[in-house]
Amino acid sequence: MMRTAVVTGAAQGLGLVTARRLAAGGYRVVLTDMQDVSAQTEAIGADALGVSGDVADEAFVEDLAARVAADLGGAAVLVNNAGISLIQPAEETTLDQWQRMMAVNLQGPFLLCRAFGLQMLAAGKGSIVNVASVAGLGGVIHRSAYNTSKHGLLGLTRTLASEWGGRGVRVNAVCPGWIKTEMDEKDMGSGAYDDTDIVNRVPMARFATPEDVAEGIAFLASDAAAFINGVSLPVDGGWTGDVSWDSLRLKTRS
Ligand SMILES: NC(=O)c1ccc[n+]([C@@H]2O[C@H](COP(=O)([O-])OP(=O)(O)OC[C@H]3O[C@@H](n4cnc5c(N)ncnc54)[C@H](O)[C@@H]3O)[C@@H](O)[C@H]2O)c1
Repeated sequence: MMRTAVVTGAAQGLGLVTARRLAAGGYRVVLTDMQDVSAQTEAIGADALGVSGDVADEAFVEDLAARVAADLGGAAVLVNNAGISLIQPAEETTLDQWQRMMAVNLQGPFLLCRAFGLQMLAAGKGSIVNVASVAGLGGVIHRSAYNTSKHGLLGLTRTLASEWGGRGVRVNAVCPGWIKTEMDEKDMGSGAYDDTDIVNRVPMARFATPEDVAEGIAFLASDAAAFINGVSLPVDGGWTGDVSWDSLRLKTRS
């Protein structure tokens, strides 16, 4: 029987590319998103399943997990990718904005880990990959709610890895640098930064592609990563390894 991989936030951006990558790797993929995912699911093929709903909604997540258990025999892989961003000075961040950020970026992954983790623990095998960010590894100005949610997601990753590793369930995270997706387009549209800011900051002098990150996710999900548990893998072209100042880095480019 084909193994099943559940990918959240799969309507567009990194989630969609990850769903395609896992389908190409032989998984039956369940695409889920707040948005309608029927066209994306159909494009992936007959084995794929699309379900719409909010990852922050406990009833939705429980129903999704029950459906995957009943119809597909449970999930072997879960990718917690759905997320929202917010660029806002900390002192202007409202409680509503803060709470919605934690609901989607932190509570959602917790609910999905709990629901699908139970199935994986019962099977004695499974792999969860949480999509955090370089913003989970250090501070980034004007992103207090987003950064806190991603730091929290790494805390959840490490704790579940410790708690479930002995029962065959691995939990890891990827920490992408800036990726050219709809999220980035919207963030950049606010005028907060431009291409040059990112390219100058990254040792490899470019944005991440969704494919770069999907490869990292597919690796951590796979049996090739059988003894990798609790890691936060930067897929960032060297960003977090480099504490140089920009003008010094730029001297290396000529
Ligand atoms: N784009 C970047 O530069 C970047 C960098 C590092 C990490 N990330 C992370 O990668 C992940 C994917 O980001 P992306 O750039 O593809 O963003 P995106 O906005 O293009 O896609 C995110 C998807 O998640 C869905 N979604 C949002 N809230 C949801 C909810 N409550 N329930 C279900 N689905 C929901 C959206 O509908 C959308 O399809 C996010 O967790 C993001 O924080 C992105």
